[in-house]
Amino acid sequence: MKKKKNLYILVAFMALFCVVLTACGKKDADNSVQKIKDKKTLVVGTSADYAPFEFPVVQNGQKKITGYDMLLANKIADQLGVKLKIVNTEFPSLVSELKNNKVDIVMAGMVSTKERKKAVAFSKSYFNVQNQVLVRKGEGNKFQDAATDFKNKAVGVQQTTTQEKIAKEQMKGSNVVSEGKVTSLTTELRTNKLDAVVLENTVAATYVKKFPEQYEIAKAKLNTPKDIQNINVATRKSDKKLTAEINKVINKEEKNGGLKQMLQKAQQLQLESN
Ligand code: ARG
Repeated sequence: MKKKKNLYILVAFMALFCVVLTACGKKDADNSVQKIKDKKTLVVGTSADYAPFEFPVVQNGQKKITGYDMLLANKIADQLGVKLKIVNTEFPSLVSELKNNKVDIVMAGMVSTKERKKAVAFSKSYFNVQNQVLVRKGEGNKFQDAATDFKNKAVGVQQTTTQEKIAKEQMKGSNVVSEGKVTSLTTELRTNKLDAVVLENTVAATYVKKFPEQYEIAKAKLNTPKDIQNINVATRKSDKKLTAEINKVINKEEKNGGLKQMLQKAQQLQLESN
């Protein structure tokens, strides 16, 4: 009698165990792609202060966000057969927006730092960057050496970016000013509130090309370590299938010259915008 009772208890436990196991199994299943297809929308988080990667333009009286990242995001949405929705926030909050499921992916000229890799995953890289110092027109020669020539100068950087780290480490004795938006930094440089702004080369070049009377690149060189040169799409660590789909698009656009074309198109749109 007692034996039978024990058996019942054992069977009951085993049944419970199976239920728990399948429940856990379900939770772990990666439905990242299916979820986006179901809602027919891919939500990309960005910080549209970063031409040519992402910036606002006015088309037919309407403000729209475009740029290299956004053109590529459109290709990813096409691959998934859904439409693209752009959520624009300040750069420092993008990683947590992604972690908290507010967006599906982040594309914001974001490099895959060791720190960020602890929190999120990254696609294959679709662009490489170096860092430079943007200064006012005519002052490029004043700054020859990053380690000595920015002493007591106000150097603007975007908060939580690799530029913040580089300025603190390489521009000795400077007064590093961290702010939320790159567009505020470049305005403050123009109006003499800052003496320099650390930017990635492609972004700095965009300012010099569009406003040649206002800005130039300082002679002083910065060192950009290898692990902060690669720009990628950020995804959630659990979303392996989505990351694989994104990598497919990047591979394809790399092979067929699409990446280059998208960058050129973005640069053109930036020059034409006001
Ligand atoms: N590449 C730098 C980083 O990942 C800066 C990116 C800034 N992006 C932007 N959209 N404002 O830290």
